[in-house]
Amino acid sequence: MNINSVLETIQNIKSDIQTVSSHEELEQFRLKYLVRKGIVQQMFERLKTAAPEDRPVLGKALNELSRTAQQLFDEKKRELEQSRHASKDTLDLTIPGRRRPVGTKHPVTQALDDMTNIFKSMGFAVALGPEIEDDFHNFEALNFPPDHPARDMQDTFFLDKTALLRTHTSPVQIRVMMNQPPPIRHVMPGRVYRNEAISARSYCMFHQLEGLAVDEHITFAELKGTLATFAKRFFGSSVKYVFRPSFFPFTEPSAEMDISCFLCKGKGCRVCKQTGWLEILGCGMVDPNVFKAVGYDPEKVTGYAFGMGIDRTALLLYGIDDIRMLYENDVRLLNQFT
Ligand code: PHE
Repeated sequence: MNINSVLETIQNIKSDIQTVSSHEELEQFRLKYLVRKGIVQQMFERLKTAAPEDRPVLGKALNELSRTAQQLFDEKKRELEQSRHASKDTLDLTIPGRRRPVGTKHPVTQALDDMTNIFKSMGFAVALGPEIEDDFHNFEALNFPPDHPARDMQDTFFLDKTALLRTHTSPVQIRVMMNQPPPIRHVMPGRVYRNEAISARSYCMFHQLEGLAVDEHITFAELKGTLATFAKRFFGSSVKYVFRPSFFPFTEPSAEMDISCFLCKGKGCRVCKQTGWLEILGCGMVDPNVFKAVGYDPEKVTGYAFGMGIDRTALLLYGIDDIRMLYENDVRLLNQFT
């Protein structure tokens, strides 16, 4: 044995350890070099047969070799242990939780839900109807004369000769009444469509909340009381309101309800066009012709109905000045309602 063979073995150890990539291979390495009959011990054995004058140098080199082998073995062992931990899905309970992004309700949905809940608390049930309607439900049963301008192509989206997109939620009144006998007390939220020029204030699709109450002895006073209670709950107890006479084919008498502008408190501002008032809904006593169309006896029952627009109210409530922003699905708008 000479110094060169010791240096050569050190090189072998260094290149062998580099090929080790598993615990099995590391065990082969240990069996080859580090056990009692391994190469390192064998070389120490052979030191005894070396010339006495070479022994100090060779002994030093062999100690170096032994240390290197043990050190490389220890290092590799730690490395393999660590990569095993990393690859296993270990559960670290000390890591802070990751917050899931939470979605929010669209401002229109929020307003619709709030309005619906107020009526629910007053004993109203919720009913839904289809957005694709026919002439009977959208117009005829609601006492629209055949030549009424609302039936015109200019206002209504017709899909074909018989199908159209509902222009209001009032056809759901017809569906509810044809489905069950009185008494009725329902609100009916949903989307409606009108063929209008799109601008900052109007869109071809918007939302309404319809209401219908039918029973014996229902009076206009009950209509006023219900809507006044709603207005105070939704817009605040200091809100003022006024009922103006109006006309709808399906109610008689008919009215529109205005509330005092909740931005300027009635003083007059840009939003209420300096009038101090905001129009929020149409309403009236159900026309006897509507009862006849659904098979109710107008001599026995009376009722009231109302329909309010949601979108413009939501715009005013949230201070959004362009209705189109509601439907562009821009998260920068939606994120402001968290
Ligand atoms: N349907 C009417 C509209 O869209 C509103 C309304 C509903 C009026 C119910 C009276 C009664 O303008």
